[in-house]
Amino acid sequence: MFTFIHCSLCVLFLMLTLRCVLWPVCRTKSRMSKNSSKVLNLKDKISGNEVDLSLCNLTEVPVRELALFPKATVVDLSCNNITSLPPEFCNLTHLVKVDLSKNQLTCLPDDLGNLSNLQHLDLYNNKLTVLPVSFSQLRSLKWLDLKDNPLEPGLAKAAGDCLDEKQCKQCATKVLQHMRAIQEEVDHAREKRLLKEKEQEKKKEAKQREREAREKEARKREKAEEKERRRKEYNAQMAALAAREQQKKKSEEKKKKNGQATDKKVVVESAPKPRRSFLSLLFKLLLLLLLGLAGVAAACQLTDLRKEAVCAPVNVAVEDGLSWARQQEVVVRQLLQNLSSAAKEFLESTQASKN
Ligand SMILES: *[C@@H]1O[C@H](CO)[C@@H](O)[C@H](O)[C@H]1NC(C)=O
Ligand SMILES: *[C@@H]1O[C@H](CO)[C@@H](O)[C@H](O)[C@H]1NC(C)=O
Ligand SMILES: *[C@@H]1O[C@H](CO)[C@@H](O)[C@H](O)[C@H]1NC(C)=O
Ligand SMILES: *[C@@H]1O[C@H](CO)[C@@H](O)[C@H](O)[C@H]1NC(C)=O
Ligand SMILES: *[C@@H]1O[C@H](CO)[C@@H](O)[C@H](O)[C@H]1NC(C)=O
Repeated sequence: MFTFIHCSLCVLFLMLTLRCVLWPVCRTKSRMSKNSSKVLNLKDKISGNEVDLSLCNLTEVPVRELALFPKATVVDLSCNNITSLPPEFCNLTHLVKVDLSKNQLTCLPDDLGNLSNLQHLDLYNNKLTVLPVSFSQLRSLKWLDLKDNPLEPGLAKAAGDCLDEKQCKQCATKVLQHMRAIQEEVDHAREKRLLKEKEQEKKKEAKQREREAREKEARKREKAEEKERRRKEYNAQMAALAAREQQKKKSEEKKKKNGQATDKKVVVESAPKPRRSFLSLLFKLLLLLLLGLAGVAAACQLTDLRKEAVCAPVNVAVEDGLSWARQQEVVVRQLLQNLSSAAKEFLESTQASKN
């Protein structure tokens, strides 16, 4: 199968190169032949539905001329120098019987199967190795001669001998069968290839989709992680803030307990300590002095020392102090009275305002 495709490709390539090389030559020749009364000659060569172009030294089939005579369905091109048929030859669908025996054909055009009316095809003594796959579509073909061609073994086996009418008819049938099998294989291979391509395409798409999904998932995860991270950061910040707040509150409470503001506390805690101790010392000294004075006064008043000279000024001072205190008592009592009356008034007024 592969060798067949390979081979046919080779032949096709050869054909194309050959055509490229020969094309200009052939064109000029055919034009020349056309101008040099070849069209007239073709008309001369037509008798009934038959065109006889055998033994004309042709290297190319005069397709355009033949297309002008659609009634000429039988064409004899035997014993020429034709190496290949042009693709346009397959447009001559009116052809029923074609004799191409004793030429130099190495291949036939791909669309040969288009010759749907072709019943009789003589390819005896050419250089063919394979037939185009479309050969299987020659549904009218009933007679075929492929003798004396370097056919590939499979085709040769299908073609058989074709030494008489019956064998040539069998050749047509068998070769058609053979070519149909090849056609099926080719179709199958093509289908398979298409299917494979489709599958590969699908796989590719699936992979692409999968990759996209993965990327999307990754992006989503990244976003979620980022969010989580931010959330944690926020929480940490909040916790720190709360802790700081609490610390502040605590310190404030402490401050309140100490009854002092922070800066005052600082002052109290650092500088005032010696001052306080100094004050208390002073206070203690004063107290001691007072006690001493009280003791002296008491001694001068209550003991026998009263009559001594030393105590005389002391006693005078005490007497003065006591009389002053008695005077002050009256004043204090007056003050207290005033205060109580004022408090009463205040209380009454607040009571009245409440009511
Ligand atoms: C061929 O015939 C065409 C007209 O059909 C003419 O124009 C052309 O000159 C001719 N060429 C030659 C080479 O005679
Ligand atoms: C065919 O062409 C060749 C040269 O290409 C020439 O020698 C030969 O005489 C020609 N024969 C006929 C029948 O025209
Ligand atoms: C085919 O052409 C070759 C040269 O290309 C020539 O030698 C040979 O005689 C030709 N054959 C026929 C049958 O015209
Ligand atoms: C075959 O004939 C059709 C019209 O009948 C034309 O459109 C097409 O180009 C021809 N193909 C070739 C290969 O000459
Ligand atoms: C052969 O037939 C097919 C489909 O009918 C068409 O596309 C193609 O052009 C034909 N080829 C020629 C050379 O006429």
